[in-house]
Order: sequence, then C-alpha cells, then structure tokens
Amino acid sequence: MQQNDSLKNIWELYGVNEDPFSTSPLLVIGGSIPIESFVGRGDEIKRLSKIIGSKGGSRTFVYGDIGVGKTSFVNVVRNSAFENGHFTHFKEITTQDKWDSDDFVLNTLSAIYSSLKVIKDKKKYISDKIYIKLASLFEVNRTVTNSFGTQVLGVGVNYGNEHKSAEILPSFSLQELFVEVIKEINTTTKKDIIIHYNNLELISESKVKHLFNTLRDFFQTKNVHFIFIGNLTAYSTLQSVPRFSSILNDTPFHIEALKFEEVKQVIRKRFECLNISKEYNFILPFNEDCLKVIYELMEGNIRDILNSLSTAIFYVTNESPVILDRNRLSKVLKDILEKRFLNNLTPAMRKVLNEIVKHEEITNRALSDRLKIPRSNISSYIKDLERAGCVYLKRKNGKDKFWKADPKIRWSLLKEDPQQRLKTA
Ligand SMILES: Nc1ncnc2c1ncn2[C@@H]1O[C@H](COP(=O)(O)OP(=O)(O)OP(=O)(O)O)[C@@H](O)[C@H]1O
Ligand SMILES: [Mg+2]
Repeated sequence: MQQNDSLKNIWELYGVNEDPFSTSPLLVIGGSIPIESFVGRGDEIKRLSKIIGSKGGSRTFVYGDIGVGKTSFVNVVRNSAFENGHFTHFKEITTQDKWDSDDFVLNTLSAIYSSLKVIKDKKKYISDKIYIKLASLFEVNRTVTNSFGTQVLGVGVNYGNEHKSAEILPSFSLQELFVEVIKEINTTTKKDIIIHYNNLELISESKVKHLFNTLRDFFQTKNVHFIFIGNLTAYSTLQSVPRFSSILNDTPFHIEALKFEEVKQVIRKRFECLNISKEYNFILPFNEDCLKVIYELMEGNIRDILNSLSTAIFYVTNESPVILDRNRLSKVLKDILEKRFLNNLTPAMRKVLNEIVKHEEITNRALSDRLKIPRSNISSYIKDLERAGCVYLKRKNGKDKFWKADPKIRWSLLKEDPQQRLKTA
C-alpha cells in the first residue's frame, strides 16, 4: 500500500494524544477533555452549588453569549453534585421548538432513563419496579398503556433511536411517572435531583409562554432543581414572559467571558491532561503575544479563541511543530478566510460584510444609512451573507433585526506588527 504522509495525527508533534482545542462542552461523566481542565467561575460555582445543595427544589436560569462556557459551567457543578450523591442525568437535555409539553416531560424522563441504563448499581437510585416502568416507555418491546388516548410521539427524544413509533400515554400519567421516579430517587439518595435543559433560545417566545403555562406544576416538582440555559436571545425572552421569570428562585446567572489568564490556563491544563507521557514535554503551538492578539480580537470568547488557534495550527503544521507568533497567526488566518469564504462573495456583499464586522451588532436600517444602499438590497445581501455563514442574527427587538459577523470574519481585522516583522526578518 502507498504511504500517505498526510494521514497522521498532527497533535503528536506537540506531545499530546489528541486535539487540545476541541470546543465541545465538558461532560458530567467521561469526555476526552477531562472536567479537571475547567478553570475559574469560583463564585458562580459556589452560588449554584448552594442552590442545588439546599433541599426542596428550585428553578435557575443561566445565560450568556454563545460559546462562553455556559454548558460546561453547569456540567461542572452537576459533576460535583453527582460525586456527592445527587442524581442527575449525564447528557444535558437540548430543548427543541417542536416540543409540546408532553415532549418536554418525555424527554426529561428519557434523559433520566438513559443515565440509569448505564449505571451498573441502579439500586442505589431506583427500584426494579419503577426502572422497568421507565424502560417500558423507551424500549422497543414495551407494553403500551392506551386507556386515555393522548398521543405522545417518540420523535425528538434524545436517546435510544429505537424510540420511533407512537406511544399512547396520557399527559398526566407522564407527569405522574416523573413524580414517582423523583420520589424514589430522592428516598434512596436522600438528596435532590438536578435536571438541566440546554439552549432555551431554540424555543420561540410564544412556545416558551405556552410551555411555562402548561408545565407550571411540573417545574414545581418537589426535590428537583431545574436549571435552564440560554443565550442572550433567551434572556430577552425570559424578560418578556412573566410566567417564566416568576418561577425562578433567584436572579439569573450571567456567564461572562473568561479573563486572559484563565484562557491561558485552560489551554495549558488541556495540554497537561492530554500529554502523551509524563516523560515527554508538550509544546504549546503559540507564544503569549499571539494568544493575547486572538483573545482581544474574540473579546475573550473561549470557543472562538480555541477555534481560531486550532484552524491556524492545523493549517501550518506539516512535518514539525510550529510556534505561532502574532504575525504568522494574522497572515495564516487572513489567508484562510480569503480562500475559503470571502473569495466567493460579490463586491457588494463584501462591502456590506466589511461594514458589519466593524460593529458589535447592526440593523438593516443602520447599514442602509451608512452605505447609502437601499433597504431592500441590504436585505437580500444579508440573506446571501447569512447563507454563506458570514453573518448571523444576534437578536431581534420588535421588527429590528441585529446582525453580527461570524467570528471567523473578524480574522480580517487582524493586523501584523511591523516591529515584530523587522525583528524576525
Ligand atoms: N471555565 C472553563 N474552563 C475550561 N474550559 C472551558 C471553560 N468554559 C468553557 N470551556 C470550554 O470552552 C468551550 C465552549 O464551552 P461551552 O460549550 O460550555 O459553551 P456554551 O456557552 O455552552 O456554548 P453554546 O452557546 O454554543 O451552548 C468548550 O470546549 C469548553 O470545554
Ligand atoms: Mg452550550
């Protein structure tokens, strides 16, 4: 067979087993990037731990910009709660707009069941009787209860792709089963249960209104701590749906960008955790100046920083490890942006994009005023730019849409430092 030199793990050149720049959230259990690599947020961890450690139940809303670390933060708290004897499902529940209230409950039960399924010592949490009842809801050869006639569709369930056929179970039975499951787990563990719903922004405002009306009792279930996560759009929804905000116990948690030193520490910890062997050193593929430049450009957003670094490192690494400085980073990222994205845009689209990238957020009207281009044309350029993955809708306020450039477009703002270029010449 012919040798293909490109088929190799470039990370080994840096002394690590696998990609240390992965942007998936840290998991409650498992995951290749260990939970020990979590950094900072000490005050928030304390505050949330206090809430879920206190018996009775609660409802908490955690919000922040896309990719700042909301899910990982809640998973870290859930991980330590689990280690301390609380039951929590392992994978967060990703909410979906198509869900009705029954789907909400069904997916919650499904998340609990999926975690119980992989726990060897189930008796620590639940009796055989209730476990079998749960299993009958999600496994293929289940017995179907059909005496009341509300139809619950299995679509949208996160776990067990065998769960496709229609199930007949009345709404109140689902909620009753939930209460039954919670009671048992609470009696055996003597601790409250934690349920985590992710990405609430995926549910439209009217749906949120409806769900929080119909599920009011469900969310008040005793001994359950419900944690909802959303981005800034979900935060504005929260404010316009009093039904939702009124069930929260405390003011929402605002998750902000990590500080520079914290980001530096996250990456270092990841390299340490993924180090091939303690006997070997690892090599950080960037210098401090380079990290600073990308940190500032991405306003501390950890996901955008990790993505930018990994894109650049992947591109430049061939036979040997590379240590990026700010000039090399700027040049490489700008080249990639041009080749992969900007090249395909028309001059008019580029003009609009160049304006959008200068702003934190901007409306169609403001763009039209600044560029002296009619509103209708702006709308169609934006549609094309959105389709090309160059801009996204940051938030809506009434009829106004606020657009923001995709983080990679910000690479175009990188500047080389002429001083440094002279030094290295
Ligand atoms: N405090 C932290 N310490 C270490 N790593 C972190 C921290 N916060 C976030 N990360 C890492 O940053 C990446 C993004 O985090 P995460 O997925 O939790 O963000 P998010 O806000 O939930 O994103 P989204 O808006 O897409 O849901 C992940 O790879 C995660 O491991
Ligand atoms: Mg998340």
